Parts: sequence; C-alpha cells; structure tokens
Amino acid sequence: MTLLGGPHLDARHLADAHDPADLLSRRGREATSSVIRDLLDWTRRPGMASLAGGLPAAELLPVARVGEAVARVLREQGPTALQYGPTDGEVALRERVAPTPSRAADVVVTTGSQQSLDLLARVLVDPGDVVVVEGPSYLGAISAFRSAGAHLVEVPGDAEGLDPEALAAAVAGGLRPKAVYVVAEFANPTGATLTAERRRRLAELAERHRFLIVEDDPYGALRFAGAPVAPLAERTERAVRLGTASKTLAPGLRVGWALLPPWLRDPVVRAKQAVDLHTSTLDQLVVADLLADEEFTAAHLARLRSTYERRCRALVAALARLGGGRFEVTPPAGGMFAWVALHRSLGLTADELLPAALDAGVAFVPGSAFHLGAGGELRMRLCFATLGEAELAEAVARLVAAVDRVAPGR
Ligand SMILES: Cc1ncc(COP(=O)(O)O)c(C=O)c1O
Repeated sequence: MTLLGGPHLDARHLADAHDPADLLSRRGREATSSVIRDLLDWTRRPGMASLAGGLPAAELLPVARVGEAVARVLREQGPTALQYGPTDGEVALRERVAPTPSRAADVVVTTGSQQSLDLLARVLVDPGDVVVVEGPSYLGAISAFRSAGAHLVEVPGDAEGLDPEALAAAVAGGLRPKAVYVVAEFANPTGATLTAERRRRLAELAERHRFLIVEDDPYGALRFAGAPVAPLAERTERAVRLGTASKTLAPGLRVGWALLPPWLRDPVVRAKQAVDLHTSTLDQLVVADLLADEEFTAAHLARLRSTYERRCRALVAALARLGGGRFEVTPPAGGMFAWVALHRSLGLTADELLPAALDAGVAFVPGSAFHLGAGGELRMRLCFATLGEAELAEAVARLVAAVDRVAPGR
C-alpha cells in the first residue's frame, strides 16, 4: 500500500471522517455573528432605509482634512509615520486625549475602543468571573466579555441609565462583580444618560465592593441638549474610561484609547503586544494632527452636534406625526440612537415587526438583541445619525406601513 493512495485515504474520505471545523477551539466555535452584522446584508440592499447601523453621517466624515493630515504627517515625520511604534501608543496622541498632562502615562491607545474592551476582558476576567452589564447593553461589550468566559449578569436600566439600587440589591444578595460596564452618555442602544446622582452612587458601590467600572464613552462629545455630567472616572479611581475617534472623527481610522488606573496599565500593554503590537502609527498621528487643530475640531464637532440634533428631532417628530400613537420615545440628549417602543396596545413585538419592515424597505435592530435573556421585546433601536431628515421621515412612513400590515386595525 502506498502512503497517499488507496481507496481509504482519498481526500473526500478524510474530509468526511474529520470535519476540519473540529480544529476550532471552544472560543472559535462559540463566537457568533451579531444580529446587527447579519442585518447589514439587508441594509445594503438598494433602496433600503437603514436605521439599523450605528454609522456616523458619511457626508460629515472629514475626508479633505484627513487628506491634509496624512500629507503633513508624512512630510514632517517621514518614515517614522510608517515605522513600528510603541505598544502603548504615540506620545503626541496620548498627551492629546489625557484629561491632564500627568495622566498621559496612563493612556493606552487601542485599535478602536472595541479593542480596549477586548484587552480589558483578557486581563480582568477568568472564566466564571462576574461582569455586570446594563440591560440592555452594547453588543460588542457583551461579546468581548463573553469570549473571555465572563459570567455576564444584567442589571436593569431605564431612561436614567443603569439602576445602581438594583445593583446594590444584587450585591447584597451575594453577587460579586469584578467589573461593571456602562455607557454613561447617550448609551447604545437606549440613548440614556446616567444621572449625576446615579454616577455618585455607582462610584460609591465600586469603592465599597471593590469592583472596577468600565466607563465606555464613544458618544459623550455628541451632546446636543442639557448640561454635561462629570465622568465616573473623575469620581473614583476604580474606573477605566474608554474613548474613541470613531464617532467624532472617523470609525475607519480605528483609533481609540483607554485611560487606566496605573495598576492596570502594564497588563493591558502586555496583552495588546500579543494582539497587534500597536495601533497603526499613521492613523494615530493623523488623529493627533486633527485633535491638535482646535479650530477644526470645534467646528467639526459643532457641525456633528447640530446635524444630529436636527435629525433626532426629525425622527421623533415623524414618529409622533406619522405614528399616530403607535410609537413611544424619550428623545435622547445626544449621541446617535433613539430607543423606541411599540405601543403595548398593538400586541406586536419588534422581532415580529422586523420581517415586514425589511419588506417595506426599512431596517432597525429589535430591542431583544441587546439583552442577555428576555427583555426589550417592544423596543427598536433607531439610529438617526446616518440618514437625512427627509429620509428619516420616509423610513418612519415605511415603519408605519409595516406595523399596519402585521397588526391591521389594532
Ligand atoms: C458603546 C460602544 N462602545 C464601543 C464601540 C466601538 O467603537 P470603536 O469604533 O471605537 O471600536 C461602539 C460602536 O458602535 C459603541 O457603540
């Protein structure tokens, strides 16, 4: 018998006997695609009005200014801009995003804030460790903590963010979280902002019960109503604060950062070294160049805020005008998302509505997708950042048509 020949050893036979997917690790097998990724296929269909993604307005991405920054960085820094760089990030950028000069050493630049979440999960979570998330919560954080083996526990939130009293009750009942993840400003998906009082209470709980708060802040700079509230990281040393250039400059640059307590910095840097050595040098220097241009950043942010405010108003107005009581919403004070409820009297869940909505040419993410278990059945996450005002009104008209098709006469 030859080694490679013979009837028993042809490629087909081997493939049948050994499914190559057997090679996957448990993590590799268990990683699932998110509902949002799956919806993206639908949202790319011609004519679809998508309220489903979380995409910044394409026409406001600073294409020309990024072009200038790339040219300047290459002209002034030459090969350095294309060379390997330090794992914790370019000093020019760390100094820009640190809250005070003395804290620049506590900043680690990451490849988007999604990587900060992944690195934190790697260095904080042993399988079975409890991580608390708000119910509902950002799916990317759920997957990062889940893939590190966290035991995720949902604590309810409302229009004022995560309810610290519900967390205190869970802790009194024996829950021992290692970390509590919150999006304190204009959360994804709810658009809610954690009140100052709740932040104070959460910081107090973190100190008393020795857990770490992960304060993820991609949207804070997009406030278009109400007064700013001091971050959790200014209230307690038991907080990590995550930032990103994705929603204020451009998500494709993939530049984010983590402001860490000093004890956490080196473990995060070591984890990052194993993952990607460092974030793109050129992209970091481009972001540093844009942030150093204070006139540009102020004008750009003002344009983003006023556009998103107009779009948010247009969406909320269309829901009221065309919805005729079918929808309920508390308008957010910033960010990119409205958390809209289908009126109870319709007897219709958002999951039931979705296929008819897609047929009618409008996409949204059903609220249930953001919960670990049951919850959010009547809710829809609608992103108002991507579409213009007329398109938002048209999207709502399609939504109304879809509701009437699935729940006629209700
Ligand atoms: C709450 C939240 N955190 C993190 C991210 C990831 O952002 P980045 O592009 O910085 O990785 C997003 C993106 O939508 C988000 O909504």
